[in-house]
Amino acid sequence: MSTPDDIPLAKPEIGEREEELVLEVLRSGRLSLGPVLERFEREFAEWLGVEDTVAVSSGTAALHLGVRQLGWGEGDEVVTSPFSFVASANCLLYENATPRFVDVDPVTLNLDPEAAAAAVGAGTAGILPVDIFGYPAALPELCSLAEKHRLGVLEDACEAPGAVDGDGVEVGARGHLATFAFYANKQLTTGEGGLIVPRGAGEAAELRSARNQGRAIDMDWLDHDRLGFNYRMTDFQAALGIAQVEKADDLLAARSRVAAAYTERLGAIGGAPAGEGDLDGFVLPCADRGSERRSWFVYTVRVPKDYDRAAVIADLAQRGIQSKAYLPCIHLMPHYRERLGFGGGEFPVAEDVAERSLALPFFPRMTDDQIDAVCEGLAEALGASDWT
Ligand SMILES: Cc1ncc(COP(=O)(O)O)c(C=O)c1O
Repeated sequence: MSTPDDIPLAKPEIGEREEELVLEVLRSGRLSLGPVLERFEREFAEWLGVEDTVAVSSGTAALHLGVRQLGWGEGDEVVTSPFSFVASANCLLYENATPRFVDVDPVTLNLDPEAAAAAVGAGTAGILPVDIFGYPAALPELCSLAEKHRLGVLEDACEAPGAVDGDGVEVGARGHLATFAFYANKQLTTGEGGLIVPRGAGEAAELRSARNQGRAIDMDWLDHDRLGFNYRMTDFQAALGIAQVEKADDLLAARSRVAAAYTERLGAIGGAPAGEGDLDGFVLPCADRGSERRSWFVYTVRVPKDYDRAAVIADLAQRGIQSKAYLPCIHLMPHYRERLGFGGGEFPVAEDVAERSLALPFFPRMTDDQIDAVCEGLAEALGASDWT
């Protein structure tokens, strides 16, 4: 049982500006499809450095619209990561497309580009890279693979607003369809919400129609010229989003500060960033490589191999520190096992990481005392003093 004094896993940054903008919407009477929604889409686009964005009700809705936009369906295989939040594969199942999972890189935890290349075959229709934990996927390699085989790309950047890829391009701004998500634990939140980056004005109009029951902009409320959904974002959510975008750079910088403090303190008790030490030991998130820049979403460590992670979580909980086994592999979830016949052992890197990874409390205003408490608690829970 958690108590109000626990150090939580995540905590949104909601202030007076959010209150002011949400109140304006309430008082305006324009609660949905109003000017605030359009303003949020414009301001997010400006922040990201793209022409336009289309806001929707969730990151999952954004992914679903992306899959439909690319025409992926029955008989199409899409190369993607088994080490992700389940929505990045579910969106393929919604349209009866098949996720073609390939293993991840043990350092970045993103799709291994060589494994992705080896998986491309006659049935491959596309690639769905995920920027997991805010670290940019190997987009230069994956995009040239897609170009070579004429594959569509849908990027799940839901955990990575503000990240930069190996070519120095902002994640989501490369020109292919990309999605973002704004659930309450995300870097920028609208409570629930998502957004898709379209490839041009025509596609933006199609996506706006698809999120709004298939109505074209110039159609009457009860005319529908295509199959659509109710994936609309409300203007309240958009108002929250505007306030969050205004302070996005500060929020991301504050998260980086907390991450750096964790890395320093956990390094002092034997942790090493992935790629800089023993991958079977106590592993911290990898450092940025080359032009790649992480947008810090969560701070997840890997407990040393063969450690009892559940006992570590229980020990931390006793100390009032929330933590979570994060993330389980998608292909091992019951639905995927039953539908696609997966067992264990197919993707050894992803499975090893999934068994060992642990998310620690992580939010922009974490105090030094809280960071110390988590690091000391974790050192004791792991018995780190025995390592030297
Ligand atoms: C990688 C990834 N994809 C998709 C989603 C789905 O977003 P939402 O929860 O807004 O539907 C999330 C959010 O948790 C995510 O982390």
